[in-house]
Amino acid sequence: MTTIINIGELVGIVPEGILRKQGPEMDETGIIRNAFISFANGRIVDFGPMDKAPGDNIDCIDARGGMVLPGFCDSHTHIVWAGSRDGEFLDKIRGLSYEQIAARGGGILNSSDLLNRSSEDSLYEQSMARVSEVMAKGTTSLEIKSGYGLNPEGEMKMLRVIRQIRESVPALVKSTFLGAHAIGRGHTREEYVRAVIEMLPDAAELADFVDVFCDEGFFTTDDTARILEAAAPYGLRPKIHANELALSGGVQVGVAHGALSVDHLERTMEAEIEVLKGSATMPTMLPGSSFFLGIPFAEARKFIDAGLGIALASDYNPGSSPSGDMRFVMALVCIRMRLTPTEALNAVTLNGAYAMGLSSECGSITRGKRADLILTEPGWTLTKLPYLYQTPFIRSVYFA
Ligand code: NIG
Ligand code: FE
Repeated sequence: MTTIINIGELVGIVPEGILRKQGPEMDETGIIRNAFISFANGRIVDFGPMDKAPGDNIDCIDARGGMVLPGFCDSHTHIVWAGSRDGEFLDKIRGLSYEQIAARGGGILNSSDLLNRSSEDSLYEQSMARVSEVMAKGTTSLEIKSGYGLNPEGEMKMLRVIRQIRESVPALVKSTFLGAHAIGRGHTREEYVRAVIEMLPDAAELADFVDVFCDEGFFTTDDTARILEAAAPYGLRPKIHANELALSGGVQVGVAHGALSVDHLERTMEAEIEVLKGSATMPTMLPGSSFFLGIPFAEARKFIDAGLGIALASDYNPGSSPSGDMRFVMALVCIRMRLTPTEALNAVTLNGAYAMGLSSECGSITRGKRADLILTEPGWTLTKLPYLYQTPFIRSVYFA
């Protein structure tokens, strides 16, 4: 058993059985000051105030007043990609929008060409460098999407690389088949939707979830419904890209098909909030892409004030969010979306875990859950995390 003692703030304590936070609960988290936490065999065994700490521990770490919080649960990433799109970054600086870059054959299709030219080993190596980077920054579980193959070979190559990552890292990895990320070269939309449906049996061998980019210029709600219906018999639960570029109807189609999450939501109205109420779908926001693309931030406050929960994820990808830094995500939502640090914490831990179907396993300080923990340097508090948003804060990251 390992025990961390003299913890200044132990935050993110959630009673057993609570799988997500919604509405006013978003602003609540259990905190113990001057605390200890013990874990063994990768599981949290006990925690409490220091006067209850076990006395006879051989393996003892002195936090010296540092904070302990659950590791970040990043429920939406495209961390597997090949090459670089820094040329498009220059186009963007010169004034081209994300849609204009995509229309010129850049964007997702550019990444698709790079990926299809890359060997599986090289793709694994390039992607692992980023996975190691985010683990060092406190991410202890993450979802990774395919979607840069856009043909059967490329998509399966990506899904195999995700599996290889899953098998080689201590972080928990979930895999999503996003064949419908853009229309593969040489196809009409109709042909490509059929091609995606044909990829499903093989994809289902490797992936946990299915995703569709249901947005203006990409896939329609009809395309999305067809793909989700074809995926359902394989047990692939949907996680949908919706309402990033326009009011796409993606939230409605996602909820109607029992989506685990609907993600982006930069453009939403009351209708989207209404269909989400009472559903099991987690609205997930990706402020890193609003920051990078200069598009509106999702209106998280409206969702929470309407009684909903939200998750926050990095969207780490080469085109719209080239950062997987979850502490920066917390800072963005506090500064630009007026969430409290506690709301931000719940959104990047428990609710992020929920959006990957993992919240009974991780995402909070709860006895029996995975001991996926961040130990900070001395002096840190929950409020300081998003406030001092560039100062290094991590002393160690523990993986179950
Ligand atoms: O989540 N919106 C669609 N997909 C990504 C962008 C992918 C890319 O540009 O490579 C996103 O923003
Ligand atoms: Fe995305």
